[in-house]
Amino acid sequence: MESVDNAGTAQRWDGAYEHGDATCSWYQERPSRSMAMFERAGVTPEDSVIDVGGGAARLVDELVGRRFCDLTVLDVSEVGLGHARARLRADAEGVTWLVADVLGWAPTRTYRVWHDRAVFHFLTAEDDQRRYLFALHAATTPGAVAIFGCFALDGPSSCSGLPVARYDAAGIAERLGERWQLVADDREEHTTPGQVVQPFSWAALRRRS
Ligand SMILES: C[S@@+](CC[C@H](N)C(=O)[O-])C[C@H]1O[C@@H](n2cnc3c(N)ncnc32)[C@H](O)[C@@H]1O
Repeated sequence: MESVDNAGTAQRWDGAYEHGDATCSWYQERPSRSMAMFERAGVTPEDSVIDVGGGAARLVDELVGRRFCDLTVLDVSEVGLGHARARLRADAEGVTWLVADVLGWAPTRTYRVWHDRAVFHFLTAEDDQRRYLFALHAATTPGAVAIFGCFALDGPSSCSGLPVARYDAAGIAERLGERWQLVADDREEHTTPGQVVQPFSWAALRRRS
C-alpha cells in the first residue's frame, strides 16, 4: 500500500471509522446513485477508475463485481481503507489502495474516471479547493469523466464536526471550471443510519481540454 503522510487529517478520519463504517452518516449499502452516474456518463469496465476519498465505501465492491479491472481507491484514512480491503478479501489484491491526502497528492499516472462522493464538499477554503483541483487535473486527461456527489444547497451545513460547502450540479461544474463540461446531473435524498435525510447533488462532467 502506497502511503503519503498527513497525520492530523488521517487521525480525524481514522477515528470516524473506529467502529467500522456502518454507523457513519455517509454509509450506504449499495452505491446506486454513483452507478447511475457511471452509466449516464458512458463509463465501461474497460475504463480505469479512482475513487477519491473512497474510505470503506462499497463502490469498489460493485465495480469488482462488474469486472472493472483497473481500480484505485485513495483515502487519507488507512483504517477506512482497511475495512474495504478486509471485506473484499482476495479481490482486494486486484485493487490499488493509496493512503494519501488528496490535497498533497502527486499522481504518478492518469485515470479515465475520477469519483468523489462526499469528499470535495469538505473543502471550504479556496486554497484547499485549488490543491484538490490541481490533483484532479494531474490525474486526468481530456475525455476523462469526473463524478461528484456533494451536499445539495439544502443539505447539511456540517458533517462529522466539519463545515461543508454546498452545491447544485451547476455549482460543482462552475467550481471545476471551463475545462469540464457537465454531462449529467441528479439529486439524491440520502438517509443516514440514524434516519436523517441528507440531500445530495450529483454531477458527471467530461474533461474538454
Ligand atoms: C464522508 S466520507 C465519504 C467516504 C466515501 N466516499 C463514501 O461515499 O462512503 C469522506 C471520506 O473522505 C476521506 N478524506 C477526507 N479528507 C481527505 C483528504 N484530504 N484526502 C483524502 N481523503 C480524505 C475520509 O477519510 C473519508 O473516507
